[in-house]
Formats: sequence, structure tokens, C-alpha cells
Amino acid sequence: MLLEIVKFPDPLLRQVSQSVEVEEIHSKEFQSLLENMFETMYTAPGIGLAAVQIGVLKRVMVLDLGIEEGEVIEREPRVIINPQFTQQEGSIIWEEGCLSCPELVVPMKRFQKISVEGLDQEAKPFSLQAEDLLAVALQHEIDHMDGKLIIDQLSHLKRSRYKDKIQKGKIAIR
Ligand code: NI
Repeated sequence: MLLEIVKFPDPLLRQVSQSVEVEEIHSKEFQSLLENMFETMYTAPGIGLAAVQIGVLKRVMVLDLGIEEGEVIEREPRVIINPQFTQQEGSIIWEEGCLSCPELVVPMKRFQKISVEGLDQEAKPFSLQAEDLLAVALQHEIDHMDGKLIIDQLSHLKRSRYKDKIQKGKIAIR
């Protein structure tokens, strides 16, 4: 089911998401949440989506970096539940967009290389080493779980201009 993406300045995006219980992951409800998140992300289209972006305050993300400019290159769906950084190295500046902040691109300073531990869609623990785009996407989605947005890195002036444009309907929100 296609879900509506929560957009800035909705205060929901500022909430901190809660960890998911292992038993919950096996429930039908949770599995359909994951399906809906993928469908919503693919339709947008986007390469990552955190549950808070569809109004669910749980530490869950879906990712698929197999898309370039809206075209599917090769699907590589990933689910990461309760992610935690175990290693963070180097730094990189990445021009990031966000499905919750339409028409905005912000250069973000990120760790270039990270390791993350979490649970997969079957509640199995795993760890993942990531660099560049994958590392950036993971940091972006984990930020969502902590109520942070790319807009936080803009100057006060640019932020209020953007908010103004959104509120005056100058930015089309689907
Ligand atoms: Ni985002």
C-alpha cells in the first residue's frame, strides 16, 4: 500500500523513534509495514526511507541504492531495524536530498566509512560496513530516527526561506 510521506515542517519529523522489539518483527503488521515502506520509497522514487517519514515512530529503515535518477539499475533492497554505529571514520561532503524536504539539496558533512549493527527483516542480527553513498544513506536515515533533517544544516536565513516557500505553496507537495 502506498503511504503518504510526511513532509517538513510537520513536527512528527522531529520526534525520536523507538526501538523495535524482536517479537514484533515477526508480526504480520510489521511485515506489511516493511512492504508498504518499500512500495512508498520505490514510487517516490527514493533510495531510502525511515519509518518516521510515513508517520511510524520506530527505528526502521528501508534502502535500495539500485536506482539512479529514477531508473532501476539493479534492485538491492535492504531492511535495517534498530541500527547502531559501531565504527565511524573519515569525512566526506555529500549533496543530499530527502523525500520529506522536496526540492532541497544540502551539502552534508558525513563519515566516509561506517559500520552499523542492526536486525534484518527476520530479526537476525547483522553488521554492515559501508562507504560513500551507502554510508551516507545510512547516516541520513539514522538521523531521521533521531528527529534530524538535512535542513538543520542550512543557515537560519535559508531555512526560513525554504519554510516560507513550502508554506506559500511555491514548492509542489505531492
Ligand atoms: Ni530523508
